[in-house]
Amino acid sequence: MPDLSVTLGRLTLRNPVLVASGTFGYAKEMAPFVDFMKLGGVVPKTVTQAPRAGNAPPRTVETASGMLNAIGLDNDGLEHFLSHHLPYLRTLPTAAIGNIAGKTEEEFVAMAARVAESGQGLAGLELNLSCPNVSGGLDFATDPEVTKRIVRRCRDACPNIPLLAKLTPNVTDITLIAKAAADGGADAVSAVNTFVGMAVDWRRRKPILGNVTGGLSGPAIKPLALRAVWRIAKLKAVPIVAIGGIATLDDAMDFLVAGASAVQVGTASFYDPTASVRIAEALPDALRLLGAERVADVVGTLNA
Ligand SMILES: Cc1cc2nc3c(=O)[nH]c(=O)nc-3n(C[C@H](O)[C@H](O)[C@H](O)COP(=O)(O)O)c2cc1C
Repeated sequence: MPDLSVTLGRLTLRNPVLVASGTFGYAKEMAPFVDFMKLGGVVPKTVTQAPRAGNAPPRTVETASGMLNAIGLDNDGLEHFLSHHLPYLRTLPTAAIGNIAGKTEEEFVAMAARVAESGQGLAGLELNLSCPNVSGGLDFATDPEVTKRIVRRCRDACPNIPLLAKLTPNVTDITLIAKAAADGGADAVSAVNTFVGMAVDWRRRKPILGNVTGGLSGPAIKPLALRAVWRIAKLKAVPIVAIGGIATLDDAMDFLVAGASAVQVGTASFYDPTASVRIAEALPDALRLLGAERVADVVGTLNA
């Protein structure tokens, strides 16, 4: 049996298959469908400092091989997360990785400090530097200097918690941002969040989403995400958690070979809540097929 465990900076996971933020609730919702023991980790929905109501409906629309969403970070705020969701997440037999978004740099740092104080039980913290749905300065990861500074300051604020910087693909050169996150001290980068898009109802001459634009996800974005991951991997600067259209074992293996150390399953969980578990279960055979004894043996082995 190949060794499925993976190490990303200071974070060690039982296996490289996680579920992505915003697509798995706060894990409890998925308990009837998923054996958490079989997952490498779960990333609950992003929390912000203060509760947020999110965007006007409609918030989601199906597209060819994917979906657009403009949820707008609807959540009950960090304190509610710590008091209501974390106690459950702590009981899970898998790594729970918190996910936070600040409205300002200061808010990111204050939230990271609060997690350091009361986030016992979290295996890591993902910084959502990339939500494309909220206006007012949330696209932090479009600027390398800002990315580096936030990661650095959050790392200082919670020195004992492994940090993942979640990047937006809506930039000209994502490798510059990934390098900045690495320089800031990120244990890994999570790449990628959704691609900005829109959908229109021409008969009504109206945009379909309440927010007009939204983030595209699902199998439609896999080739785009794969290229982003492959380019970041060539930096050899930071471990990568690949996200983007991963729904099957083949998708996961494609990303590992292209240079990801782990993967997150997002939209696929909506139409197949067991997709992540089945990928994890199928992984040993795929590794054996490549003659690998551990996951790291296949990471970044693409001949290109
Ligand atoms: C409905 C929905 C809500 C999402 N909410 C969040 C979120 O709160 N925080 C976050 O970091 N990413 C969020 N994402 C992005 C996903 O975590 C993931 O990065 C993206 O969907 C690409 O992966 P996929 O193609 O497998 O879905 C959301 C995605 C969807 C579809």
